[in-house]
Amino acid sequence: MVNDRRVFLITGAAGKTGRAAAELLLERGHKVRALVRQDDDRAKALAAAGAETVVGDLLDLDDMSRAVHGVSGAYFCYPIRDGLLEATTVFAQAAVDADVRSVVNMSQISARREAKSNAARGHWLGERLLDRTDMLTTHLRPTFFAAWLRDWWEYRDGEGVLRLPFGRGRHAPVAETDQARVIAAVLADPEPHNRKTYTLHGPVEMDHYEIAEAMSRGLGIPVHYEPISVEEFAAAMTARGRSAHLVQHLSNVAVDYQQGIFAGTNDVIQDIGGRAPLTVEEYVAGRKEDFRTSGPNFVPAPPA
Ligand SMILES: NC(=O)c1ccc[n+]([C@@H]2O[C@H](COP(=O)([O-])OP(=O)(O)OC[C@H]3O[C@@H](n4cnc5c(N)ncnc54)[C@H](OP(=O)(O)O)[C@@H]3O)[C@@H](O)[C@H]2O)c1
Repeated sequence: MVNDRRVFLITGAAGKTGRAAAELLLERGHKVRALVRQDDDRAKALAAAGAETVVGDLLDLDDMSRAVHGVSGAYFCYPIRDGLLEATTVFAQAAVDADVRSVVNMSQISARREAKSNAARGHWLGERLLDRTDMLTTHLRPTFFAAWLRDWWEYRDGEGVLRLPFGRGRHAPVAETDQARVIAAVLADPEPHNRKTYTLHGPVEMDHYEIAEAMSRGLGIPVHYEPISVEEFAAAMTARGRSAHLVQHLSNVAVDYQQGIFAGTNDVIQDIGGRAPLTVEEYVAGRKEDFRTSGPNFVPAPPA
């Protein structure tokens, strides 16, 4: 356990990476302020684990000024929703005003000046904005999360199906708990990581046929991958009521994915996080119950 008086702000603390980072920092004895959007069971669980929870809106300057008060380092994480650049600007202003020393910024591997996805280009611009502050700044650019596999998973007659527009493109799915190890390590010791951009990958790069095989081994049930068109994917998301922003983003990164933008592996999680990242088999085997039902976004097969 550390003896550290610094306070770390975790934004998006009820979300995937934020929650994992908050829990890990607390386990290690750090002081955590957890910014949540609503005071629900997830916020209560964070408070029970020892976090100071703060309800606030990442788009509200007054809320964010309160959230960063007295904070040494912050994990900045905004979801795939409209408003990323506004939230980044609000966070940067509040953090600079409050003399926050360091920020770990959640971006993504597809963040590029020339990105067609509005969210990916917004991440690239957000990185540039934070680079212009005096804060010690580290950008994380993960490939697709392992949690994605559950979001798009259909559980049908004891078998799993992934219907996704990824052709034979490849990536190495990365677990939120492994990303949390990097977030926690950089927050605790930010200097060596200042102005660094880290892509985050799981340990094994695969196409979705291979991912389905790995899931099948981990879950002990048959799993199939059915490649679909970007158009079918976009239409299904729209029919589910997903936002135009999300549909625009995912349709464009699907093309990026097919073109290899999400591919690769590296040693960042091992080297900075201190442990080898989880394989897909390990990830799903540790969450078997989650895969006994379909995920929230799966694209149903058309009627036979
Ligand atoms: N998923 C992937 O495969 C992937 C890959 C690479 C990069 N990324 C990046 O990862 C980031 C998302 O990280 P994540 O998946 O860990 O987050 P997440 O699970 O989407 O959680 C985000 C959290 O932020 C909260 N939130 C939303 N709007 C807010 C607001 N206006 N003010 C305060 N809180 C707000 C949400 O609250 P509620 O839960 O109450 O709505 C949620 O708990 C995105 O920037 C994305 O680009 C994702």
